[in-house]
Amino acid sequence: MRELSQHILDLLQNGLEAGATRLELDIDDDEQANLLTIRVCDNGRGMSPETVKAVTDPFFTTRTTRHVGLGLPLLKAAAERCGGGLTIASTPGKGTEVTATLVRDHIDRAPLGDMAVTLMGVLLSEHECDLVYRHRQGGEVFELDTAELREALDGVPLSHPQVRPWVQAYIREGLDGLNGAGA
Ligand SMILES: Nc1ncnc2c1ncn2[C@@H]1O[C@H](COP(=O)(O)OP(=O)(O)OP(=O)(O)O)[C@@H](O)[C@H]1O
Ligand SMILES: [Mg+2]
Repeated sequence: MRELSQHILDLLQNGLEAGATRLELDIDDDEQANLLTIRVCDNGRGMSPETVKAVTDPFFTTRTTRHVGLGLPLLKAAAERCGGGLTIASTPGKGTEVTATLVRDHIDRAPLGDMAVTLMGVLLSEHECDLVYRHRQGGEVFELDTAELREALDGVPLSHPQVRPWVQAYIREGLDGLNGAGA
């Protein structure tokens, strides 16, 4: 079973590949509503309505005449298997917003996985991109804003051997500090 963090990495990478300079990731772990919502928003090149249709249509994904990857169809399938779904809102030249909703306690719902490791992969990518990550759980929110982080680091790169583990621990402790059982 694929962890949700792998799907999240796919979404963030799509944004980076689309030339985004700013990514937003919102995870809403709502035990009361029994829903887990993942939303990734980017300011990259966006997609035409035809592309949006193609990337979620399994018929298109099996075609070999053009490259359409598996990231979005796999997430769509995972969300639908869990009583939820996937929506894409995209404007060419402006950006894209992808939202996946899953029934939180569905038997097929994969665990969230290690968000700290996932995010480090994005933060250390060669694309220069800011990331705002908000994780809501049990009425509380953990927020990480890499623009603020960079400012605090005063020129020391996120890839610095002493900064990396610190950021990872910061994310881990932030998420551990949220109320509730966690996804
Ligand atoms: N955020 C985005 N902004 C612009 N285009 C996007 C975005 N997300 C997806 N796309 C377009 O949709 C296509 C399919 O995305 P998908 O994630 O399904 O596959 P992929 O990224 O091409 O390959 P894979 O994820 O399997 O490595 C991408 O190749 C890209 O053209
Ligand atoms: Mg992809």
